[in-house]
Amino acid sequence: MEYQVLLPSRVSLLGIVLWLLAAAHFSSCHNNHVQNHFSLSNPEKNNIQEKKKEASSEQEFDNEDLKVFYPTNQWQTLQPDQAVPAGSHVRLNLQTGEREVKLSDEEKYQNNLKEQKKGQRLDLNTHGFTTQDLKSALEKFKEGAGAEKEDKARQEEVRQRFRPIEDLKKDFEALNVVIESDLQIMVRLINQFNSSSTTLEEKIMALYDLEYYVHQMDNARDLLSFGGLQVVINGLNSTEDLVKEYSAFVLGAAFSSNPKVQVEAIEGGALQKLLVILATDHPLAVKKKVLFALSSLLRHFPYAQQQFLKLGGLHVLRSLVHEKGMEVLAVRVVTLLYDLVTEKMLVETAEQDQGPPEEKVQQYRQVELLPGLQEQGWCGIVAGLLGLPEHDMREKVLRTLGALLAPCRERYRRDTLLSSMLRGLRDEYQELAALELQDGEENGYFQEMLGTINGFIQEL
Ligand SMILES: *[C@@H]1O[C@H](CO)[C@@H](O)[C@H](O)[C@H]1NC(C)=O
Ligand SMILES: *[C@@H]1O[C@H](CO)[C@@H](O)[C@H](O)[C@H]1NC(C)=O
Repeated sequence: MEYQVLLPSRVSLLGIVLWLLAAAHFSSCHNNHVQNHFSLSNPEKNNIQEKKKEASSEQEFDNEDLKVFYPTNQWQTLQPDQAVPAGSHVRLNLQTGEREVKLSDEEKYQNNLKEQKKGQRLDLNTHGFTTQDLKSALEKFKEGAGAEKEDKARQEEVRQRFRPIEDLKKDFEALNVVIESDLQIMVRLINQFNSSSTTLEEKIMALYDLEYYVHQMDNARDLLSFGGLQVVINGLNSTEDLVKEYSAFVLGAAFSSNPKVQVEAIEGGALQKLLVILATDHPLAVKKKVLFALSSLLRHFPYAQQQFLKLGGLHVLRSLVHEKGMEVLAVRVVTLLYDLVTEKMLVETAEQDQGPPEEKVQQYRQVELLPGLQEQGWCGIVAGLLGLPEHDMREKVLRTLGALLAPCRERYRRDTLLSSMLRGLRDEYQELAALELQDGEENGYFQEMLGTINGFIQEL
């Protein structure tokens, strides 16, 4: 009998480990029972039978005390402190997180039962022992002579009737619940995505799940080891927008602060593919994720930044900012540029002995970012974005204006539109900051904005 229990791929290994711990705990509970059980096999068993019959009419079966679980043909929930007789099937109910048991081989179990009945004259079906029964039985047994030896043999027999944890693991295997490592899961997901027989929906699900794993740096590197990264990069070439979108989603997570993956991605042609998508007609959702992947690829990776400039990346971003319906992206683009400008500045101005290695500084020096921005009119583009309505968008634009001050100062001084916009914003935030102060809020958001604007005006 086989049960196909599919673990959702986001069920963590931790969950399974916890389950195994719980199983270990409950198997240690067996020891208590071992005693209870063997006491039932003492010479006074007939007496117990009598007592049991009396007791069962007066008292309900006390599950807590007996702690032996009798499986049936139906799945039943197993309590943490219950023991499972041999020949039963255990599974993990993924909805409730509870273990469930049923008979796996009824005949075998019935035979077991018959054996037991023959040897011990126990009627397991009546389930009717109380703690008191067991205690008194145990006492009587202890009084008996030469019990020790029989005791050991009995314990051994009983132990064999219960299932060691290795058996439970084998059960898991029989149930097709495979305890996979992250690497195995990623291989499975990549195969699912790469297979020509998978549906679009299945491919997207595979990518969606994969994204979760590659957040971990080690996992993202493991993705390289079996060619998984290239498969995802190739996903950017798909004719399906959804595949492009989710491939970019995975890549953005995998690149993030992961130099080894970033290097391989550049070698695998990821940069060109990302730029092509941004430069051509695609839905906002696709471009959003692709811009995210591009940002992850460029951050803290001067070589990629150089390539980006060489491939005309700033042109691509400029078109993107001017595209209708892509206003949300404009702010993200500006944020990316701000990050790149400040990153380069921080590295180049760092004290020699505290900064990054000389080689890296050299690489950053070769990133001709500010001249490129100036040449391609980014001073004006960023200034124009100051008209955006949301405060946090303006905040990002203002920060970027400040970062671009060196190459753009002359232009900004002559820009009357920018001057009037700055004055308008100053008035607006003066009012808002005053209200904030009235509310008793010191160092509020609007006061900070006002400070930034005033600082920028002064710098000009
Ligand atoms: C993906 O599929 C292609 C074509 O079927 C195959 O050549 C390649 O080895 C596969 N890659 C991986 C990582 O499974
Ligand atoms: C994938 O896309 C890139 C850029 O969009 C293109 O140059 C390349 O030829 C494409 N490769 C395939 C196999 O379609």
